[in-house]
Amino acid sequence: MKRELKKYRENGVMEKSNKTKHDLLKEIRDEVLDGNDLPLFEERTKNKVYPVIGEGSHDARIMFIGEAPGRNEAATGRPFCGTAGKILDELLISAGLKREEVYITNIVKDRPPRNRDPLPEEIRAYAPFLTRQIEIIQPSVLATLGRYSMNFILETFNLWEELAPISKLHGKVFEANASHGAIKIVALYHPAAAVYNRTLLDTLKKDFLVLKNI
Ligand code: URA
Repeated sequence: MKRELKKYRENGVMEKSNKTKHDLLKEIRDEVLDGNDLPLFEERTKNKVYPVIGEGSHDARIMFIGEAPGRNEAATGRPFCGTAGKILDELLISAGLKREEVYITNIVKDRPPRNRDPLPEEIRAYAPFLTRQIEIIQPSVLATLGRYSMNFILETFNLWEELAPISKLHGKVFEANASHGAIKIVALYHPAAAVYNRTLLDTLKKDFLVLKNI
């Protein structure tokens, strides 16, 4: 294990250094790629697929956080490039956002078998990578896609008392303090939920307008 990673895991604090955002994000990519202690590493190698680290602007003001890669994402190493990705693209356009100006990632960086829901221990193992991505990119808005990332982000930013079913929280904006300053958290349904559900797609479109307004 690299010395700085060891220190990071021990202290939970990102050391100040002369490294660029690009260097720091590349370190995350390399650690995930080499992470043979990660719970879905064997699944990745067995299926000869890729982890999905994240994609987009390293200076993004908005970071979208999904759940875990699906089949297309694991085959290409890119987040949201399958059916759910097409819906996300549509939603971004409807909110006047360009994919290349936001950052898109997931909590779990490897595809769970048969797209099952991520297990608590998988979320625990991969979450530190997401936390570091937030510290490095320093977005002012975290837009969670689905209940797993919503719960994780609300818990991470000590908004325990806000926890509720996503049907109650979608479209709401929460204020929180990140290590880089004040942030807003916007809870959104997962785009995959809208694949066969027109009503939910309309709800998502409406909720995405919140992003436009903040
Ligand atoms: N679903 C997710 O949560 N993330 C992806 O990258 C693709 C589908």
